[in-house]
Amino acid sequence: MKKILAGVALAGAVALAMTGCASDGGSGGGGGGDDLITVGFAQTGSESGWRSANTESLKTALSEENGFKLVFNAADNKQEAQIAAVRSFINQGVDAIVIAPITVDGWDDVLTEAKDAGIPVILEDRTVSASDDLYASWVGLDFEKEGETAGTWVKDNFDGQAQNLVVLEGTTGSSAALDRATGFDKAIEGTDINVLDSQTGDFTRDGGKKVMEGFLQKYGNQINILFAHNDDMGLGALDAITAAGLVPGQDIKIVTIDAVHDGMQALADGKFNYIVECNPLLGEKVADLVKKVVAGDSVEKREIVPDQSFDQDQAKEALPTRPY
Ligand code: AHR
Repeated sequence: MKKILAGVALAGAVALAMTGCASDGGSGGGGGGDDLITVGFAQTGSESGWRSANTESLKTALSEENGFKLVFNAADNKQEAQIAAVRSFINQGVDAIVIAPITVDGWDDVLTEAKDAGIPVILEDRTVSASDDLYASWVGLDFEKEGETAGTWVKDNFDGQAQNLVVLEGTTGSSAALDRATGFDKAIEGTDINVLDSQTGDFTRDGGKKVMEGFLQKYGNQINILFAHNDDMGLGALDAITAAGLVPGQDIKIVTIDAVHDGMQALADGKFNYIVECNPLLGEKVADLVKKVVAGDSVEKREIVPDQSFDQDQAKEALPTRPY
């Protein structure tokens, strides 16, 4: 399982300095004299509750007791930092690399480098525009369908009422933001829903709050509906809406994506109106794929994990048993 590469010591030191740690037992490199599979995981960052649940799921599944040595890096939502982390994993000679790609473009070079080094890559969560010859497999969610489900809810409830809508978009250039926008726009096409504005809040609470404050300043109480590409931005927007003297869930109807605990609580409390789930628990599927590709077994190129959706009553019922 272990690869011996020139420059391992230097690369390991560089990786350690860059990531702050080779966490969860990873000493940063293929050495160690055990039978564990060394996996470098390049996570986007820690922008949202969804991301925390996703990181936790992968750390649990890629544990030593399950046969892995995990070298973890979170790139603080910066594409260059994430690419540098992947390069460092290549230099360390890990057995496999897992990436949750921040943006859809810009992956061709580093994926080619991994391929040339004989290191299989598994993508999880978001997709890339690079050729699928450059990675072994992708497991994630159907973001376009998530956006379409959110848009269909808006259409079913508000078409014919000439309502004004604003959008809080996810990270610019991410497949999650691009595909959700495509699905949502498709669903509301031909309705009389008027999209007043659409700006990125970068999938964060702070971002959601700031952009919503701007929308409220600009459009005041013309806004009837908010579509936020994730719960966290919707939760940030709640503060802005309340501070403006409006009642979230009533004066402004709110539809979001993710269904993490805080979002579901807001839905159960009547502050959100509808949530489309995005399942972050991808760890076991990723671990299974890594084991198979490292063993040389064939795997499916793409696997989509199904999502559900919730209204306020369904959130109340589901909350007590939600695992995240
Ligand atoms: O790629 C999945 C998205 O990334 C989640 O919906 C969002 O919360 C996260 O930051």
